[in-house]
Amino acid sequence: MSYNTIKFEQKDNFAILTLNRPDKLNALNTELFNELDDAITKVELDDSIKLLILTGEGEKAFAAGADIKELNQSDKNSGKLFSQKGSKVMRRLELLNIPVIAAVNGFALGGGCELAMSCHIRFASDNAKFGQPEVNLGILPGYGGTQRLPRLVGVAKAIELTISGNIIGANDALNIGLVNQVYPQSELMDKTVEFANLVLSKGSMAVSASIDAIYQSQNLSLNDGLDYESKLFGELCASNDFKEGTSAFIEKRKANFKGN
Ligand code: COA
Repeated sequence: MSYNTIKFEQKDNFAILTLNRPDKLNALNTELFNELDDAITKVELDDSIKLLILTGEGEKAFAAGADIKELNQSDKNSGKLFSQKGSKVMRRLELLNIPVIAAVNGFALGGGCELAMSCHIRFASDNAKFGQPEVNLGILPGYGGTQRLPRLVGVAKAIELTISGNIIGANDALNIGLVNQVYPQSELMDKTVEFANLVLSKGSMAVSASIDAIYQSQNLSLNDGLDYESKLFGELCASNDFKEGTSAFIEKRKANFKGN
């Protein structure tokens, strides 16, 4: 599939996916969701891709939300489908078994904020702006915003942001835990790739299992979560990466992980 609304760039062992409708502030329309869905399948099927970075084209926006012109046509049934479609794609992104990092390079509003939240972590440029302004349109966040925002920033802050529609800057987003780091716009991608390379130097099975276990902590009781963690721990102890990592420590050398 060739892409009109996203760019998919494969590096050695990671990929960069860029939302590419800069003249519309990378607003998320149906074509873009279809292409994103296809790209996620591509990532799933390619074992050489060990990490994914998601960003927006241009210096102004990561994504300014769902495409309001498309949304405007919705009724009760099509509106529900509109929400489900975006949610499904974002859930697939979140469930990828490799780290997914959002490099938020400008506006991340509505669906843009929701897309960033469906990534595992978020780095932001200093000009980035975050918000769930759907109440201004007479709707609520429809791509998981009411579910992921409270998990990230707590219920009270999520309600404050969602019912006010207020837009916050990158440093406020950092303070409430919505983003992990803030960098000058010119450094955002370099810093993101630097972090990506740090993660890529670790045992990839251990990295994936860690993300899996941490996400499961949101669904499981503490006892069930501890059991799940022990199960994954045992599985990793049967991997070559585990033998390599522990042997490298004992032999005082750098580990050379192979991801198996
Ligand atoms: N859906 C569709 N088109 C959008 C869009 C969206 N969510 N956000 C921006 N665009 C389009 C604009 O219509 C405009 O297109 P045009 O040149 O064909 O008119 C283009 O992107 C540039 O946006 P513009 O509004 O002119 O830029 P700005 O710098 O004046 O304002 C924002 C930037 C982000 C404040 C403003 O675009 C905005 O409020 N967007 C909607 C945010 C929103 O409510 N998102 C939630 C959607 S559920």
